[in-house]
Amino acid sequence: MSAIKAATLFNVSSHPLLFLSLLLGLSSFLDLRCRAQTQTLVDHEVKVLQTIGSKLNKTWNFDVDPCSNVTGWVDRENKMTNYANNVTCGMCDTTTNTCHVTSIILKGQNLTGELPAEFADLTYLDTLDLTRNYLNGTIPAKWGTLRLTNL
Ligand SMILES: *[C@@H]1O[C@H](CO)[C@@H](O)[C@H](O)[C@H]1NC(C)=O
Ligand SMILES: *[C@@H]1O[C@H](CO)[C@@H](O)[C@H](O)[C@H]1NC(C)=O
Ligand SMILES: *[C@@H]1O[C@H](CO)[C@@H](O)[C@H](O)[C@H]1NC(C)=O
Ligand SMILES: *[C@@H]1O[C@H](CO)[C@@H](O)[C@H](O)[C@H]1NC(C)=O
Ligand SMILES: *[C@@H]1O[C@H](CO)[C@@H](O)[C@H](O)[C@H]1NC(C)=O
Repeated sequence: MSAIKAATLFNVSSHPLLFLSLLLGLSSFLDLRCRAQTQTLVDHEVKVLQTIGSKLNKTWNFDVDPCSNVTGWVDRENKMTNYANNVTCGMCDTTTNTCHVTSIILKGQNLTGELPAEFADLTYLDTLDLTRNYLNGTIPAKWGTLRLTNL
């Protein structure tokens, strides 16, 4: 008898409000999970990017995590031709959700200075595009340790 009552009570399809609250509970649970899985860049690579940014006069916003995949680190709307601005992460540690920089594309940004050797400290970097800037100097010997597939 009471089992039947309980079954009726939890027949969610016949109780729109219960159904709705279950749905809301589920979506906020999923939302929490997503936020818990937000990826961040490993600390030492944040410092490397800060050094590179200061050497190239590139004003990245470090109040936002470089792996956040948001505007400033990844620009989806490229209003100007021959312009691109993307920092992409990968090789994430699934337990800590910390990642490495795998791609840096800074195209047509009028960046100045000498090519920073510090790119070589981003050990998982496989793509580097610095075309259409005003960079000078020679390719640092240290870059020899990088395993770039696109330069
Ligand atoms: C660095 O960039 C700022 C604007 O972001 C510019 O005013 C300044 O002249 C640049 N410095 C160099 C050395 O290019
Ligand atoms: C970055 O964000 C875009 C759109 O907001 C999404 O399509 C893409 O999958 C995201 N990439 C990563 C690696 O999270
Ligand atoms: C930059 O990243 C965005 C979002 O992932 C992508 O749509 C765009 O093609 C990338 N631009 C370049 C030049 O790779
Ligand atoms: C680079 O400089 C050119 C010429 O001064 C200018 O038209 C362009 O908007 C600049 N690009 C960026 C990304 O600042
Ligand atoms: C590179 O350009 C900067 C100015 O943007 C200058 O101070 C520096 O001496 C130049 N270096 C070389 C090796 O030409």
